[in-house]
Amino acid sequence: MVNEFSRIKRLPPYIFSEINKLKDKMRLEGKDVINMGMGNPDLPTPKHIRDKLKEVVEKPGVGRYSVSRGIIGLRKAQSKYYERRFGVKINPETEVAVTLGSKEGLANLAQAISSPGDFIITPNPSYPIHPYGFIIAGASLIHLKTIDNGIFDPETYLRRLDRAIRSSVPKPVALIVSFPSNPTAQVVDLNFYKEIIKLALKYKVYVLSDLAYAEIYYDNNPPPSILQINRSKEIAVEFTSMSKTYSMAGWRIGYAVGNKKLISALTKIKSYLDYGAFTPIQVSAAAALNGSQKCVSDVRKIYKSRRDVLVNSFGRSGWNIPSPSASMFAWAPLPKKYQSKGSFKFAKDLLLKANLAVSPGVAFGDYGEGFIRIALVANEQRIRQAAKNLRNLNL
Ligand SMILES: Cc1ncc(COP(=O)(O)O)c(C=O)c1O
Repeated sequence: MVNEFSRIKRLPPYIFSEINKLKDKMRLEGKDVINMGMGNPDLPTPKHIRDKLKEVVEKPGVGRYSVSRGIIGLRKAQSKYYERRFGVKINPETEVAVTLGSKEGLANLAQAISSPGDFIITPNPSYPIHPYGFIIAGASLIHLKTIDNGIFDPETYLRRLDRAIRSSVPKPVALIVSFPSNPTAQVVDLNFYKEIIKLALKYKVYVLSDLAYAEIYYDNNPPPSILQINRSKEIAVEFTSMSKTYSMAGWRIGYAVGNKKLISALTKIKSYLDYGAFTPIQVSAAAALNGSQKCVSDVRKIYKSRRDVLVNSFGRSGWNIPSPSASMFAWAPLPKKYQSKGSFKFAKDLLLKANLAVSPGVAFGDYGEGFIRIALVANEQRIRQAAKNLRNLNL
């Protein structure tokens, strides 16, 4: 009998799990824990989307297997979204795949395009599926440091990327970019993407862009898509998600859009693994994309005022938090008192002494040490309460 499974062995213990266990224990003891740890949206899915689900679920035949790469109505709705939002024409037949959330799409694309011996360039710190999708596939990673003392400098990033590609033997198969970033909330402009595509075409490296926070932005500055760049479809695919835009995280719908070869690889591997999301969910997702987008601007307003309450109230309690311009996260340097103790210790103390659950930066990669990620998933009153509790730490 095999004692250890090699693929499972490659996965380290989940750093979030110790904090989560502690949080659950405190809740069992009756403590009022304010949870700003996981980026799990607390807002309701808009009513017209829920109503659509109720309507479609009553139709005959909807309980059958659905379509693995997504029903055509939903692929068309996603193409229209790209045209309306980014001015990019997408062929719904060959350039879109619907995924069971973008996390599933990223993980299965990793399986489809990489094997042991292949190299992939991933940002560090980053959302865990970016590295671990490829680690599960058996590939090797080249970690690209994205921030220096909390600052993201596009030129430094591009210089490092160029060096990483040139010094990799064999040449990397793909590189991942993800802006607005989870966890750092950094944003980029089209010039940055232009340089990424230039490098990718020069060195023939595929680009996987994760644009999960396409619609969660503040200060009237909508994040661009890498597919807006000329020739990007020759080399890039982009993932978007319904999870945050429409508060549909549990519905599990996302998309991969772009390069035909990558879409076809993802579609093929998915056809072996799943039958697509439940059809009524796909129809409701199409209704979300095709319907009024007021619900999206409403969500944006809510996150924005939470952000402002967080920055102001935490600041008054002695912890200065830089104000994020997009994403649903604040990426905050450790207060002086904790700088030598590390993000894990601070996250634990926040939980034990302030009843506040957050994510330690180190959980997103070594280069995330020195920071805490705070998700804007508590209402303003709870954020103010967290700020009051914070005073127990005398920061
Ligand atoms: C950058 C990023 N990509 C992907 C995801 C996963 O999204 P989905 O719910 O579509 O799988 C998240 C979720 O937090 C995320 O932050």
